[in-house]
Formats: sequence, structure tokens, C-alpha cells
Amino acid sequence: MTDTLRNAKPHSSPAPGRREHWSGRLAFILAATGSAVGLGNIWKFPYITGVNGGGWFVLIYLVCVVAVALPIMVAEILIGRSAQRSPVMALRKLDGPRSPWQGVGWLGVAAAFVILSYYSVVAGWTLHYSWLALSQGFAGMQPAEVEALFGQVYQDPGINLFWHGLFMLLTVAIVAAGVHGGVERWSRILMPLLFLMILALVLRAAGTDGFGPALDFVFGAHGDRLTPAGVLEALGHSFFTLSLGMGAMLTYGSYLRTRDDAVATSLAVGGLDTLISLMACMMIFPIIFVAGLAPGAGPGLVFVSLPIAFGQLPGGALWAAVFFVLLAVAALTSAISLLEVAVSHFIDWRAWSRRRAAVGIGAVIFLLGIPSALSGGTRLFGGDFAAATAVLFGEGQGKNWFDLADYLASNWMLPLGGLGIAVFVAWRMGAHAREQAFKAGSRFARLYWGWVWLLRYVVPVGVLAVFLHALGVF
Ligand code: PHE
Repeated sequence: MTDTLRNAKPHSSPAPGRREHWSGRLAFILAATGSAVGLGNIWKFPYITGVNGGGWFVLIYLVCVVAVALPIMVAEILIGRSAQRSPVMALRKLDGPRSPWQGVGWLGVAAAFVILSYYSVVAGWTLHYSWLALSQGFAGMQPAEVEALFGQVYQDPGINLFWHGLFMLLTVAIVAAGVHGGVERWSRILMPLLFLMILALVLRAAGTDGFGPALDFVFGAHGDRLTPAGVLEALGHSFFTLSLGMGAMLTYGSYLRTRDDAVATSLAVGGLDTLISLMACMMIFPIIFVAGLAPGAGPGLVFVSLPIAFGQLPGGALWAAVFFVLLAVAALTSAISLLEVAVSHFIDWRAWSRRRAAVGIGAVIFLLGIPSALSGGTRLFGGDFAAATAVLFGEGQGKNWFDLADYLASNWMLPLGGLGIAVFVAWRMGAHAREQAFKAGSRFARLYWGWVWLLRYVVPVGVLAVFLHALGVF
């Protein structure tokens, strides 16, 4: 991967002496954006916004992105760039072979396993919906029928296992072959295309009666449905959507050279990712409101709203298929970064070959994902499991395996990992090395003290306060 990233060619040709530097940064921005933009933006953000009642949830999420997540993104990239290693080995290199901080890296590797196991199930739904669009289309279906269709898909063990397996196979094939160059070249075309399609759908939604209520739902000042658990979810999602707290950005940063501007990159990736999430809301909620469906319906939101919208368009089946395939590609570039964290770890740590690591780890993640793939259907992992976890989460709040994996990984593991990175960089790493790393090659050197201050005080106090709040301590 190092080689592909370094050899990637820029679109235009800058001055000869600077060419390599610029191409490295472009490839990195593409890889980092590919990792950040995915199901988190288009599937998860709108659905959790809906469940948490919009308004204040969105505002709190935005505060988390700016005050907590972005400073951590810079910190992760800088650690990777300085150490030129995957997470565990990077922390060992910077802090000594017996450093307890390598635990943060291990937590990240564990999170990669957990997240990819259910991420792949949702990505499988996008593949299945592309297939559905082409084979039967959604034309003439009533909103209630589209809703029922998702219910069927969610509960069908065969469908879930098949597409989960296929998606994992694709992810493994790409990571094993190390053909990141190919993926990057493709996503350079496909990601802007996805962006344009979302934009078109937002503009179309802007002409409907649902747009006003949707704007008010997402940006209006109302927080009646916001709970402490919702605040934790907003924080956790700011990590999830920016691929933070588990070493993905750290690993990608390890393929950078010192003069590449980590701060500018973080701002660009963060801005783009947030924009796409908000646009996804403005594409989905107007449809939900016009159709009279509930915004808090849960994980099926995007799989219900878009078929309704495409069902009304001429040529809608084709558009729907294209859209869901593009969404699957966005999920693929994120899944690659999740698998890459675990793979690069075993390559560095156990000297496994890339192929062996990708195939072995991919197989384990596929198996780990089976209970998630069966969550909607079987009694063991559906009803009974949810009833059992209701003891932990309260009456009627029980989670199936799928929900539980998402809950634990995004809401606890990622913020904890991010907290570890922040505390390490702000309090443990040598001041000189930190300042050097931040200022090297950066146009934003003057932000140094603001960044340190956020990492030192705002991030730890904020994350701990949200944790305690969620645990009901205050
Ligand atoms: N950021 C990705 C998304 O929004 C998910 C992801 C999380 C990828 C953590 C890598 C690491 O879909």
C-alpha cells in the first residue's frame, strides 16, 4: 500500500520538484476521505438523527466534530506520520517496547474486528437493494409496502448471509492484492458521482412539501427526544464517521511523508464528511415526511426512503441501482480501511504476509458477522437475545447482536481509543516532538496552541463527562 500511495499520480502536473510531494498528499486525501465517507454518513447519521429527534442531536454532533474529533484526527495522523508504523507498533516505537499506551492500539485492532463484522452486513443490504432495483424495481410501490420489504430483507437469514459474505470477499480481495491504486482510481470517479447524485436528490426534495418540515427537524431548536444516551451516540458517531479512535487514520497517516500537511487534510476531510452527512439528511427526511412515515424508524430509514423516491421517477429502477452500487463502493472504501488496520497490525507484529493476514482476518470477521446477519431473523439472536440485554439497557431497550456490536464499538470503544490518543499526544509525548510534528509542513502552524489546548482539556473532560452522563452518574 505504501508504494501505491506514493506512486499515485496527480491529475495535473505541478512543478517538477514538487510533484512527488503533491501526489502523496492527494492520494492520502483520497484514501482518508474514502475511509471517512461511507455508510456512517448515508445510512447511520440520518437514522440516528431520526431516532434522537433531530435538532439538538445534530447540534451536539457538530460540536463533537469540531471540538473533539478534528483535534484527534490531527493527532492520529501525526502519530502515524512520525512513527511510520501501524497503531500498536507506532505507540511502541514512540513510547518504548513496554509502553502501556500500546493498549490504545490493541483496542483499535479489536474495534476493527467488531465494526467490520456488522458494517459488512449493512453494506450487504446496499448490494441486495441494487439487485432488487434491477430485478423488480420499486415502481408503483406504496410507502407501506416499501417498509414491509425492508422488514422482510432484514429478517431473511439467507439474503443477509449471502451479501455479507460477498461484501467481505470483495474487501478481502482488494486488501490482499494491495491494489489500493486501483480502488483509489475508481473512487476518484465514483465518489464524486455519488456526491452528485445526493445533490440531485436534495435539490429534487427541495421542491416537495416535506422539505420545510425536514429542515426544521434537522436544524430546528428542539431537543425533546434527546437523552444522555443520545449525547453519547452523538459523540460516538463523530468518531465513527471520521474513522477515528481505532487507528484507521493513524495507519493511513503512517504512509505519509513529513512535509505533507496533516492539519489541512484533516480540515478538508472533516468538512466534506460533515457536508455529506447533512446532505444525506436533506435527501432522506423530506421523503419520509411526504410519505407520512416515522423519522425514528431505525436502521431501515435509507432503505425505505430512497426506494419510495426512485419508485416515482422515470427510469427510477436504474437510478436506484446506480445509487445503491455507489453507496456500496463508498462502504467498500471504508471497509478497506477497517480491514487494513488489522491486516497491517499482523504484518508488523507477526510478520504475516499481506495475503495471509487479509484472508485469515477476513474469515474471522465474516464469522463474527454471522450473528449480526441473523439478528433480524432468528429467535436466538433476535427476540431472546434482545430480551436478555433488556436487563442491561432497560425495559423495551434491549438490543439484538447487531445493535449491541454497533453500540459497544461506536459509543464506547472509539471514544475511549480517541481519548487515549489525545491524552498520549497532549500529556505524554515529548513537547518538542509534538510541536515539530504539528508544525512540519503545515500552513496552520499558528493553530498549534489551540490544538494542544483542545487535546489537553476539552477532549478528556468532554469525553469523560459524556461517559459519566451516559452511565447516569449525573
Ligand atoms: N467512517 C466510516 C463511515 O462513516 C466507518 C469507519 C469507522 C471506517 C471506523 C473506518 C474506521 O462509514
